[in-house]
Amino acid sequence: MNKTSDLAKKIIVALDVGSKEKALLLVKQLEEARVFKVGLRLFSAEGPSLLQEIKNLGRNVFLDLKLHDIPNTVADAVRVAVRHNAFMLTLHSSGGREMMQRAAEAAAEEAEKKGTTKPLLLAVTILTSLKDEQLREIGMEEDTLNQVLKLAKLAKQAGVDGIVCSPQEIEIVKRELGEDFLVVAPGIRPSWAAAHDQKRILTPLLAIQKGADFLVIGRPIIAAESPQEAYLKIMEELEGAVDTSHGKNSV
Ligand code: C5P
Repeated sequence: MNKTSDLAKKIIVALDVGSKEKALLLVKQLEEARVFKVGLRLFSAEGPSLLQEIKNLGRNVFLDLKLHDIPNTVADAVRVAVRHNAFMLTLHSSGGREMMQRAAEAAAEEAEKKGTTKPLLLAVTILTSLKDEQLREIGMEEDTLNQVLKLAKLAKQAGVDGIVCSPQEIEIVKRELGEDFLVVAPGIRPSWAAAHDQKRILTPLLAIQKGADFLVIGRPIIAAESPQEAYLKIMEELEGAVDTSHGKNSV
């Protein structure tokens, strides 16, 4: 596996568009990109057939539906996601230990039944739109960082593979939860891209240097005049600096 394809597996392009046509055009344009994120908007508009179409184009799907319900319902939804070939999927850690455990068991069982690889389960801890004050309003007394760590530890104990967290939290999560617990970081902005509404941002290179396993990048690529050029520019910036040969980033 060469360096470029190792890096390409780390970049998740967020398909934050409203239709299948727009989404599939991006998937086709971004020939080198391996993983695409389908979130609530696109999934609600187009349904699961889109996942199969992305898969048919030889790419992986990160199904970002942030599941949160009673354990039985979430486990059933996870089974369906496995049948639709999701490569990664998200669930809310605040759904509790049992919900996450049942989800992890369901993912493993269904993948075995189907003869495929188990999808990576990623827990959402505290949404980056929430600050300490809003946490108190919903009865959480810890500050955001401590709450993120508390929920990340619970997710790990429950058998979840990793978490989605803000770029600022990457290092501490890796330190506290261990190298093998995956970190997926949105809020990524190359130096030449606009921040948009993202407040706590990092460049792709810094996020990888801090230990992120996957980067979620939306508008800097999909809203660029040429998505393909923007994607390749990000890859070039990373390729020059990252050594992925041992699964580590030595920069
Ligand atoms: O366009 P941009 O690069 O900001 O897109 C980031 C993607 O990551 C969006 O799909 C957004 O919903 C998602 N995300 C985020 N912050 C989180 C969790 C997910 O920006 N904390």
